[in-house]
Amino acid sequence: MNTLIATIAAYLLGSISFAVVMSRVFGLSDPRTYGSKNPGATNVLRSGSKKAAIATLVGDAAKGWLAVWLAVQFGADVGLDDTGIALVAIAVFLGHLWPVFFRFVGGKGVATALGVLLGINPWLGLATLATWLIVAYAFRYSSLAALVASIFAPFYYGLLFGVDPILFAVFVMSALLLWRHSANIGNLIAGKESKIGSKSAGAK
Ligand code: G3P
Repeated sequence: MNTLIATIAAYLLGSISFAVVMSRVFGLSDPRTYGSKNPGATNVLRSGSKKAAIATLVGDAAKGWLAVWLAVQFGADVGLDDTGIALVAIAVFLGHLWPVFFRFVGGKGVATALGVLLGINPWLGLATLATWLIVAYAFRYSSLAALVASIFAPFYYGLLFGVDPILFAVFVMSALLLWRHSANIGNLIAGKESKIGSKSAGAK
């Protein structure tokens, strides 16, 4: 029962789209109406407001981190095992992708996945973040950095902790994140993906 409650609570927390919330707070247009139309930090940056983009990134990462950190720290006290933690991790991520508060139109999950990984283990999160930063610095594509980091994340988890239900959650998250970037992958292959900081998005 507690696992079900924790999973639903994580989904609801994940359903808070900080791209939409912060855009309202900063008086910007709804990110679902311009650029890539993705409610995420990269697209909010296309509004020209670095502050709103950073607030989006921090908010979306923080919700992933909080849900999983709480499950890891206090889950055992209420009967949550590794499977329960894995369900919480997937649920907060699914909330971001299909938010109940925003007609199920959510983001691609990069910041939330980072928060989830940091919540599981700081070294796991930092290794994945370092991967994102290296690829982003080298190629200037936010999407490519996210794709490479998400492919590496399950390997990092496996190396650190071996095979368990949480590895399955990390794998599911990575697979969904790759799938949500289908358009970006097409744009990267076609050479039409926009670089970080560019005001326009890649081709639709
Ligand atoms: O965080 C999402 C990023 O990887 C791609 O965003 O807006 O360029 O599709 P966008």
